[in-house]
Amino acid sequence: MAHKSFSKSVLSAAVALTLAGPLAAMAEDSVKVGLILPMTGASASTGRQIEAAARLYIAEHGNKVAGKTIELIVKDDQGTADMSKRLAQELVVNDKAAILGGFGLTPLALAVGPVATQAKVPAVIMAAGTSMIVEQSPYFVRTSFTLPQNTTPIAEWSVKNGIKKVVTLVSDYGPGLDAEKAFKVKFEAEGGQVLDQLRAPLANPDFAAFLQKAKDLKPDALFLFVPSGQGASLMKQVNERGLTQAGIKVIGTGDVTDDDLLNSMGDDVIGMITSHDYSTDHNSPENKAFVAAFMKATNNLRPNFMAVNGYDGMALIYKALEKTKGDTDGTKLIEAMKGEAWVSPRGPISIDPQTRDIVQNVYIRKVEKKNGQLYNVEFDTIANVKDPTHK
Ligand code: DHB
Repeated sequence: MAHKSFSKSVLSAAVALTLAGPLAAMAEDSVKVGLILPMTGASASTGRQIEAAARLYIAEHGNKVAGKTIELIVKDDQGTADMSKRLAQELVVNDKAAILGGFGLTPLALAVGPVATQAKVPAVIMAAGTSMIVEQSPYFVRTSFTLPQNTTPIAEWSVKNGIKKVVTLVSDYGPGLDAEKAFKVKFEAEGGQVLDQLRAPLANPDFAAFLQKAKDLKPDALFLFVPSGQGASLMKQVNERGLTQAGIKVIGTGDVTDDDLLNSMGDDVIGMITSHDYSTDHNSPENKAFVAAFMKATNNLRPNFMAVNGYDGMALIYKALEKTKGDTDGTKLIEAMKGEAWVSPRGPISIDPQTRDIVQNVYIRKVEKKNGQLYNVEFDTIANVKDPTHK
């Protein structure tokens, strides 16, 4: 009996070894990238754009980097911070993800910060735009944008173009407050005056009362920020209130004239001036190729700024793995990401080695109709803009 059970255990050990061999090799050869995105709920368009762009990047560049196989895992956090945090923990602990990415809204990114720090896993911010997020973990790096970065140029443009008095209306959370402040700081430093700072709730906003208040104050212009997904309902209400007819110019960041929704906003939006880091209409060979490939892969979905953020996020992950020669140590990967620079569909970009935040061109654009479609047409470029608020 003793003999039998001995040989049985030798046998199971041998079976375990033969199984462990290929399994261990497989685990070592693959790099899991966990994207946490809102695939449902109010920010679902952000998730859809980023996932499609990340998959496109992998399809175009192959799923092998420095001898490793990239395995993309996409998780839906439904736009809730508790779930973003839980999914981050599951991805790190159960799936052994080497890199996290995505994060569709500021509160969702903030919820993941402590997990990234504790696990020493890089977390690539591909959507959220509140300036201070990258300061919350040494493992955060950003390929999206910050609101101060994208807002300051339109504040400067406004003063130079005869706008003296402005009312601001923003979503009442991180990026909106960043935009509100950045606008006021620059606009007033250049001699303009902000008459009032209005804030609408992030969830299910009704802008009517705010727009009426703005109209009553008779500013030269109304500055707007809402996150991706809300621009069409905001602009519908702006048009219903007849602000333009009352002689009030409507300006904002490009989050409002989001390329994903722009065609549904109607011709009333033609002429609106915004500043932003990406337009589908950006005139470069890299962007023309990107837009064509993205639309082909998605049954003609128009890529917006979120798509480019996701595409560049994957590019950064590939570049870092190449630099570490496939080493997935989180600290080495984040070090490798610092200072990376390349030409994105949006133009030249880099990762500031001090702040881990993106440095990029910001463009002044005007909504125009071309071939029956609405586009944000870029007409001025402010080159290599850093977030102006980082220390
Ligand atoms: C954020 C989200 C957006 O969709 C956007 O356009 C800008 C900022 C954010 O939550 O940080």
